[in-house]
Order: sequence, then C-alpha cells, then structure tokens
Amino acid sequence: LCEKAITLNGTEYPRDCYTNVSDRILNLIGKNLHHKQYHPLCLLKQRIVNFIYSKFVNSRGNPIFSVHDNLNPVVTLEQNFDNLLVPHDHPSRRLSDSYYINSKFMLRAHTSAHQHDLIKCGLDNFLVFGDVYRRDEIDSTHYPVFHQMEGVRLCGVSEFTQKYLTVERCSTYWSSFETKSLTDDLQFEWKHIITDESISVDRRIFLVLLSDFEYQWTDTYFPFTHPSWELEIKHKNDWLEVLGCGIIEQRILEKAGAGHKIGWAAGLGLERLAMKLYDIPDIRLFWSTDSGFLVQFHTDNPDRQISFKPFSHYPQCINDISFWIPEEYSSNDFYDLVRSVGGDIIEQVTLVDVFTHPRTKRTSHCYRIVYRHMEKTLTQQEVNEIHTRIEEASRKKLHVEIR
Ligand code: PHE
Repeated sequence: LCEKAITLNGTEYPRDCYTNVSDRILNLIGKNLHHKQYHPLCLLKQRIVNFIYSKFVNSRGNPIFSVHDNLNPVVTLEQNFDNLLVPHDHPSRRLSDSYYINSKFMLRAHTSAHQHDLIKCGLDNFLVFGDVYRRDEIDSTHYPVFHQMEGVRLCGVSEFTQKYLTVERCSTYWSSFETKSLTDDLQFEWKHIITDESISVDRRIFLVLLSDFEYQWTDTYFPFTHPSWELEIKHKNDWLEVLGCGIIEQRILEKAGAGHKIGWAAGLGLERLAMKLYDIPDIRLFWSTDSGFLVQFHTDNPDRQISFKPFSHYPQCINDISFWIPEEYSSNDFYDLVRSVGGDIIEQVTLVDVFTHPRTKRTSHCYRIVYRHMEKTLTQQEVNEIHTRIEEASRKKLHVEIR
C-alpha cells in the first residue's frame, strides 16, 4: 500500500521505511508560536533578543548578533546529526526518538541543526529561534514540539587567547590544541578560562531572566561540544534542564570553514524557562488558543513581570453584542454593567469593532463577551438568558440602541 507523499511548505517528500511523523505532528508545523504577538514564547524571545542586542555591541554601538527565527524545521539528517558529529549509534538517531519525514529528511530535533550552515555563511554571532521535534515522554514539562534558542559566538583564536592568556600559556594551549592533546590539567584550566568568557554570557542572560531562581551548572556530554555543561533550574523540587552549552568541537568549525576560530554554543529550552518565568504549570498551555490563557500575556513590554493565573477548564461560550451608543457613553460603564448582570461567569469583555455611520454619524460598538463558569459547563440557553438580560439592562441604563 503506497501512502500519499508528505507535502510541507510546497515541497513533496516521498514516504519510506523511516517515515514516522504522524498527522498530528505535521499539523503543528507552521504554528510558529514564537512569532505570535503576545504569546508568552514570543514575549520571551523579544526579551532575550533585546537583552542580547543591548549587551553585545560593536565599537559603534550596533548589535553584533543576528537573529534567525524563520528557518525551515525540515532539515536533512546531515544538518541534524552528521554536521554536529553525532555518532551513528547515538540514541537521538533512533526512530523512537526523532521524527523522520523519510530517510533523508527529518523534523529538527534541536536548533543546533543550523549551526554548520550559519557558520559556513560567515556568521560569528547569531541566535536561532525555532520549533523542535522530539519523541519523548508525556508530562507537564514534555511536549513533542517545543521551542529552542540557539546562541553561537565565535572569535579568532588569537584574539581570544590574547584577551585571556599570557603569551607562554598561549603557546602551550595552541600546540595541544593543534595536536588535540589537552592533558587533564590543561583541560581543567582551559575549561575555566573559556568558561569565564562563554558561560558568563549565559550567566548574564540568566541573571536577568532568572532573577532569583535557584539554579546549578552540571558537567555533561554533547557530541558537538567539549567541555559541555547543563544549566538546571529548580522547579517544584526537581532540577529541570533548561540549557545545554559548551565549547564547539574544533572539527565542526573546520568543516564549516572556520577552523581558525573558537567559540561556544548554547541551546535554551524556551517553554521551560517561560514556565518558570511566568508560573505556567503545564507545557500544553502554550498551545492553548483559549483567550483565558492568551489574554494574560497581552503586553507590549516583554520585560513585564507576569504571573499566570489558572483559569477554569470548562468551555467558553462567546456571544457578541452590538449597539448604537448615545452621546454620553463610556465603555467602562458597559463593563460594569456586564459584570453586575453576569457576575463571575463573565471571563472577558472586549471591544472588537467601532463603526461610525457615514450619513447619520452615529457610532456603534461591538463587544465580544466570553462566558465561562468556573465549576460547570454552561449551556447555550443559560448564556443566552444572561446575554438577553445584559441587552435589556444596557438599553435601559445606558440608553443604547441594540442593533
Ligand atoms: N542541542 C542541544 C540540545 O538540544 C543543546 C546544546 C546546544 C548543547 C548547543 C550544546 C551546545 O539538547
């Protein structure tokens, strides 16, 4: 049985024995939560970008990092694995761990998949934001699609060593670097020197973002960095991994035509940081289209402190109301009236349209009222009754003319 090819962004990918993406996952491609205005992930992205732009500037005060948030999540296996020296038997290559479109293409499992290409373009300082896909467990901190930020910073070896090492030390490192024979002692030292530069960057990010979270650095292993570290933050008595980072393996830079440079890379999980930052209890909420969730992040200031308040899980009922307004009228009067008639089952009222008639010059307002009970599912009939009472009260008390 030959199933239909998979079409993504206008490109057809034939299925083969690697194909393991489900329709459910395919439907999530292109949702781009990190592009949605007022979405917590977008706020966090803006917050990080603003921060990096302000902290990393050249001598003329211009930002040195470029930001890439629109790269295709469909990547080749080379991009996701080979370019990053991921060994052939590494668990992340298993069909049970990654989402394959077919034997050549997959959904990126991390934003590191773009490192090689961007370095090859000649970029030294860049951030990548994107959706990443992993087959994983299901709980409040795991979801098959999440978002990452990749940060990469390269600099010329001589520039780096000049800045951080004495001349003698430099040549020791240089030669062991070239022969790849860093002894344990040298590695230890090297790690500390390089950590001061690379990790202090992340630390600065986190000092601002994590303000007073409890965190710890641990040593870890990634095929593409050495040494490598993980940053964990305390979350409900567990340590939650939010960032992996390390010094980029020299072979990766060589393969990308930047062997004369050294640098660090870091991958940050946006959902987990956002959960901590905004008190969001469940990772599924990021996919919610419920205005009870989204309205809480409606701000033009990405640095604003927001603490998410759980909302009822019973379904919403949405009814609009339109009326011609009298000369003396204020929307706040209407909001008070709705609250007093509807009580706590009113979740939200928004002015969605203002219209002035070209001839009569009368103005009409249209409001969207979102009803939701905290303890039960409202029937449409119950909602209609209250909605009618709101109409009547508005007519009587505010002297509006219902349309
Ligand atoms: N790509 C790694 C991950 O997704 C994170 C990482 C990025 C680690 C860059 C080191 C350097 O887990």
